[in-house]
Amino acid sequence: MHITPSSFRRLGASLAVSLMLAACGGGGDPAASADAAITTALATPTPVELAARPPADAGLSAMELLGKQIFNDPNLSEPPGTPCVACHRPELGWADNHGSKIGVARGSKPASLGLRNVLTNGYSALVPPFAFVTVNGETEARGGHFWDGRADTLAQQALGPLLNPLEMNNANARAVVDKLAAAPYAAQFLQQFGASALNNTDQAFTQIGLALQAFQKSRPVQPFNSKYDAMRLGHAAFDVHEQQGMALFMDSQRANCASCHKMDPKSTIDADSPFSDFGYYATGIPRNRAIPRNADAGFFDLGLCGPERSAPVTPAAVNIADYCGKFRVPTLRNVALRQAFMHNGFFKDLNEVVAFYSTRNSNPVHWYGATGVANDLPPAYLGNIVADKPPFNRKKSDGPLLTPTEIADIVAFLHTLDDGFIPPR
Ligand code: HEC
Ligand code: HEC
Repeated sequence: MHITPSSFRRLGASLAVSLMLAACGGGGDPAASADAAITTALATPTPVELAARPPADAGLSAMELLGKQIFNDPNLSEPPGTPCVACHRPELGWADNHGSKIGVARGSKPASLGLRNVLTNGYSALVPPFAFVTVNGETEARGGHFWDGRADTLAQQALGPLLNPLEMNNANARAVVDKLAAAPYAAQFLQQFGASALNNTDQAFTQIGLALQAFQKSRPVQPFNSKYDAMRLGHAAFDVHEQQGMALFMDSQRANCASCHKMDPKSTIDADSPFSDFGYYATGIPRNRAIPRNADAGFFDLGLCGPERSAPVTPAAVNIADYCGKFRVPTLRNVALRQAFMHNGFFKDLNEVVAFYSTRNSNPVHWYGATGVANDLPPAYLGNIVADKPPFNRKKSDGPLLTPTEIADIVAFLHTLDDGFIPPR
């Protein structure tokens, strides 16, 4: 865990101390630390009150404000206490696994652990709908919400967690609509959607999705006010470490991070720096053995090939088997505030993530155990793992890509992507 003095101040002392405690358990062999973490998986969830540092309401429309209240309402889960914000906490990079330390989310039921790490909902307004696109003769999957792109719009996406038994666990749409009818903001809902809006369950449920979508597309959820943005707009300068980290991040012959995590520090257009190309890759993330479903050695989360989604409709030329094990590139905005990384939450420390990019090819035994073979894909799909461009095209004998200083510089650069450096603009 890398905590700079400024992020320490911003997080507040008590939170930073708990982050450091978490980091203390995270050293050494990553597989062993994941195993050790399972014992604390169901420790007391972080109180939702702690999340009550929501972004300012200034400038939000009535619809966006309604969506925000739904997002923060603890009564919309079964049992109550697990609002959207419990897993998508603005001060933790719009993510958090709700008290679970094993890297995947804990739901509203006391012992329920999901399959995946919470994906940030910050900047999700930038995610295009799912499609296969052909660039330079190569067809690639792009866009869609969730790690596997299964939802096209945020309105559609928002309804998933409300009914997912491992998340907010409502029995059906009626149960959600009844709770909304009893909420203090029910009158605002009727104002937005009409006096009889709560009478038709299906329609009201869809409208809940629309209100949540409006909030998620609002400025406070994509404020573009990090130090990186201030630098890009000429209002702040990077220190030498941040500068070197950015140069490495953009070096197409070495770390090459920006080839997938797209950015343009010379552009004043916010959307030119989403820090994702919204494409899909299998990068060989190690298996997280602490995930309950992974107790079955024959079970694999194959991303685009399920099991959380049905296979996408593909163009004739596309063989879906070539996409198994691929997950969408997440934005790296606010990534240093998050506590677990990658779709399976295997990594708990940002330095370790960058170390993985540095030595995946040169020291596979460290990441995958004695066999040295990527261990979270069945043999048939190992060929889908990206190996044709930096940083993934290195030979074993090439050694680590990055020195410890270079890793620290990249992490310093990633810290410049935390929002809140400059006031809302
Ligand atoms: C129990 C934890 C939990 C709760 C509660 C929860 N989410 Fe999530 N959220 C997740 C997880 C886990 C993922 C990634 C799931 C996946 O990719 O399969 C996710 C993904 C998302 C994404 C995808 C972002 C993207 O760009 O693809 C959005 C948006 C989102 N959630 C919004 C919401 C909203 C709105 C609510 C409330 C109605 C909500 N979440 C409640 C855990 C939660
Ligand atoms: C070939 C494309 C590609 C390149 C190059 C790449 N990444 Fe990624 N990155 C991904 C994908 C895909 C994921 C999600 C993988 C998963 O969860 O299975 C990801 C995830 C991440 C995450 C975790 C984010 C989160 O919210 O969990 C971090 C941090 C990250 N990358 C940093 C970097 C850095 C630093 C570099 C350069 C050293 C880099 N990436 C290069 C594709 C890439």
